[in-house]
Amino acid sequence: MQERGGTILVTGGCGFIGTHLCHALVNAGQKLRVLDDLSTGKAAGLPHSADLILGDVADADAVATAMQGVDGVVHLAAIASVEKCNNAWVASHRTNLTGSLTVMQAARDVAPVPVPVVWASSAAIYGAARSLPISERVQGAPQSPYGADKLASELHGAAAAEVFGLASTALRFFNVYGPGQDPHSPYSGVISIFADRLARGDDIIINGDGQQTRDFVYVGDVVQALDAALDRLIRRRRLGAEAQFDAVNVCTGRAVTVTMLAETLRELTGSTGTIAYGPARNGDIRDSVGDAARMQRLLGIRAQTRLEEGLRALIQAAPEKIAQNG
Ligand code: NAD
Ligand code: UD1
Repeated sequence: MQERGGTILVTGGCGFIGTHLCHALVNAGQKLRVLDDLSTGKAAGLPHSADLILGDVADADAVATAMQGVDGVVHLAAIASVEKCNNAWVASHRTNLTGSLTVMQAARDVAPVPVPVVWASSAAIYGAARSLPISERVQGAPQSPYGADKLASELHGAAAAEVFGLASTALRFFNVYGPGQDPHSPYSGVISIFADRLARGDDIIINGDGQQTRDFVYVGDVVQALDAALDRLIRRRRLGAEAQFDAVNVCTGRAVTVTMLAETLRELTGSTGTIAYGPARNGDIRDSVGDAARMQRLLGIRAQTRLEEGLRALIQAAPEKIAQNG
């Protein structure tokens, strides 16, 4: 990660991905401001030097205050669980779409040349895959309110480049995993739930037949993608380049079934917990594996962490380790 000076605003910086990003940025000498409402994130995980503003990402005043004097924005704040968004439709829409627009508007208004924004979109915008791996050229057809709000945010991102000269890059994360992901909520990511339960010798439940596939990408690789995208936009702004909107998959290109994942984790943890099968989850996507070519071309990076390696890092990490890094 390169030192680039100035101040970066990270929304949702107290969350799983945000905490990893903030530590990496601070370790590279970056001055940092974080906007978070701590609805799922934890302030204790942030590096001490980060300036934390408690506030809602859909509150225009809070976002405008947080935006003062920054050189770039990473927008991660969202309700990240597909299922929780099903259960809290309008509330999640406010955070996931109005929140994105509020960040873009403040980035537009804070300086004569809008501040660039890198932000978290999702593989959920694709919906049911028609062919695999899924490239960015495939038109979005989300199957969930969560995916619909991420896609709508992208449409606004494209319009904002055209109309307001706002440069932004939407990173379509596939399934992100790694140390520090909360395993204790029913809305948590599958790897954190399975790893936690198996390590305790508890049983796990696979939703459906377990043959659904996911592209699991390690959080360290996601941080690299965020940093590369931010660096690119800040450089382009300094050079006076025309504002663009880009959408880029952040993925490995490798499909893993949920059953395969469960068996690998049981082996790695040496667990005696059993693997049971329950009903399929409502609106669950069947197959999700991304084409990583554009990420390599545009950002110059590849997700390098092999699944077994990332899972070992997750199993070995004590939760408090992340908080101590900064
Ligand atoms: P997370 O829940 O750990 O982090 C989200 C952070 O946003 C938390 O700190 C939370 O307190 C904060 N937040 C939520 N609502 C807010 C609001 N209204 N105002 C201010 N802050 C608010 O989730 P994560 O896994 O770190 O996800 C980060 C981003 O990446 C999200 O946009 C998510 O949709 C996206 N994403 C995640 C994954 C994944 O597999 N984890 C995959 C694709 C996309
Ligand atoms: C995840 C992310 C979402 C992101 C999307 C991108 C989380 C919480 N959600 O959604 O933010 O946009 O990837 O692809 O990280 N499962 C079980 N048993 C369990 C839990 C889950 O079988 O106990 C199954 C689910 O039914 C699903 C798969 O595991 O088939 C993955 O589920 P989950 O980790 O919740 O992620 P996604 O819904 O793919």
